[in-house]
Amino acid sequence: MAAQLNVAVIYYSATGITYQMAQAAREAAEDAGAQVRLRKVRELAPAEAIRSNSGWEAHRLDTQDVEEAQPDDLTWADVVIFGSPTRYGLVAAQLKQFIDGTGPLWAQGALANKVYSAFTSTATQHGGQESTLLSLFHVFYHWGGIVVTPGYTDPSQFTSGNPYGASHTSNNGETAPDHVALEATALTARRAVRIGAALKQGLAS
Ligand SMILES: Cc1cc2nc3c(=O)[nH]c(=O)nc-3n(C[C@H](O)[C@H](O)[C@H](O)COP(=O)(O)O)c2cc1C
Repeated sequence: MAAQLNVAVIYYSATGITYQMAQAAREAAEDAGAQVRLRKVRELAPAEAIRSNSGWEAHRLDTQDVEEAQPDDLTWADVVIFGSPTRYGLVAAQLKQFIDGTGPLWAQGALANKVYSAFTSTATQHGGQESTLLSLFHVFYHWGGIVVTPGYTDPSQFTSGNPYGASHTSNNGETAPDHVALEATALTARRAVRIGAALKQGLAS
């Protein structure tokens, strides 16, 4: 990679499934030579809701040392990879709240001309993976971003089966991402880094 490429992996995860995918994205981007910031978005749910779900509470404790995403992470990054569990076919409110705080950056054009990719997890196979990813892509279009998807650019995609982005069916957090989902996440990150590096070099020349 010619110039240093900065990648922000920004995610929300209640019970840890999407977090495991975020880790796979971070590792793949680092292996591809990028400098990576892994950031969680701020939790918005009330403490009693978190306490009522042991998996949610455990994951919150496990990841208390992960830094919270700030708008500066977006300006720093050449490539931004968002991860969110599906919430009724859409992105989680916690990630949407972070996105909704980007108005000043958007107004300056500071979010344009970057590469954006995404990954998600659902409880069920047809529970809204594509709609969640597409809902994120709408945001990227407004920002003037370059959306990079895995497509069917690798034979593994004919097994994972989602050309829009990496996704995993978790059975409500019971089934951790397997090698298929983690490889799809890594492929998504590698492609984002590759296209992001080419874009950065092209824009600079
Ligand atoms: C409020 C709420 C809404 C959800 N909506 C959906 C949905 O529309 N489709 C689906 O398959 N799973 C849905 N789920 C399940 C989660 O998306 C799924 O368990 C996910 O893998 C959890 O990821 P996490 O461990 O990173 O939080 C929902 C869960 C909650 C709490």
